[in-house]
Amino acid sequence: MANNNEKLIGIIGYPLKQSLSPLLHNYWIEKNNINAHYTAFTISNLENINKAMKVLNIKGLNVTIPYKKKIIKYLDEIEITAERMGAVNTILNIKGKLKGYNTDIYGFKQGLDYFKKWDKEKPVVIIGAGGAAESAIYALIKISCKQVYVMNRTLSKSKKLADKYKNVNIAKWLSYDIINQAGLIINTTSLGMIGYPNLQLNLKDTLKDLKVYDVVYNPLDTGLIKEAKIRGLDYMSGLTMFLGQAQKSFNLWFNKSPIIDKALLKLLHQHLRLK
Ligand code: ATR
Repeated sequence: MANNNEKLIGIIGYPLKQSLSPLLHNYWIEKNNINAHYTAFTISNLENINKAMKVLNIKGLNVTIPYKKKIIKYLDEIEITAERMGAVNTILNIKGKLKGYNTDIYGFKQGLDYFKKWDKEKPVVIIGAGGAAESAIYALIKISCKQVYVMNRTLSKSKKLADKYKNVNIAKWLSYDIINQAGLIINTTSLGMIGYPNLQLNLKDTLKDLKVYDVVYNPLDTGLIKEAKIRGLDYMSGLTMFLGQAQKSFNLWFNKSPIIDKALLKLLHQHLRLK
């Protein structure tokens, strides 16, 4: 039950049907005995977001599609990495000052670390050129990947993204000459997510040690993950990234490190299976 001291946090995006963030954060809130509640706010524009957060005394927000870039001009302060990337997925209300952060980079790295061994000399293919793609690029550059290719439906967007970073190139949408030589392929688009068509990618001629990383987590088994399984390739779904970014956001809001326990995973899996 809400009371005067209850802290309000949540997520803004459009649409928000597929988000498991409320379930996840409210689980951690309860586990950590915090007087707070996490709510999903489906909003069709950002116009009054700065004022709304302050007036309603919202402690923090996650920001998701399609607002990760657009949110920036509404904030009072941006943490340096998020500023350089131009993408914010977490807002912290610090005594009436709204500061933007990007915890997707951390989350992406958590998923990437699952692939114990992969050849960083081989090309890395990033499909998509939005905020999630840039988080991936940021993390990959940090671990010294030398050949990163961005393939996006809209070429002008890939170009803009690639121009910002050294060693990042553009290639046409699903260029198989590069895909078939790649060591790692990452889907950062919305394709495969509930409500979107699947990414139609044929992995029959790839290198046998290709690693396939889909940042989509709902459903867990996207068309891309199914294709990776059929071809016997090592794969990673978006759940680890999702959990990683959420842990970091929770830590920013409450200064606590939430734990991913068995009960939580069971809860999430039950929910994912129902979709
Ligand atoms: P996010 O910040 O979460 O990455 P975004 O900035 O809206 O979200 O980016 C979404 C990505 O999914 C973009 O690369 C987009 O491609 P376009 O730049 O061509 O729009 C991609 N995407 C979304 N729907 C798509 C579709 N049906 N086919 C191909 N790409 C799609």
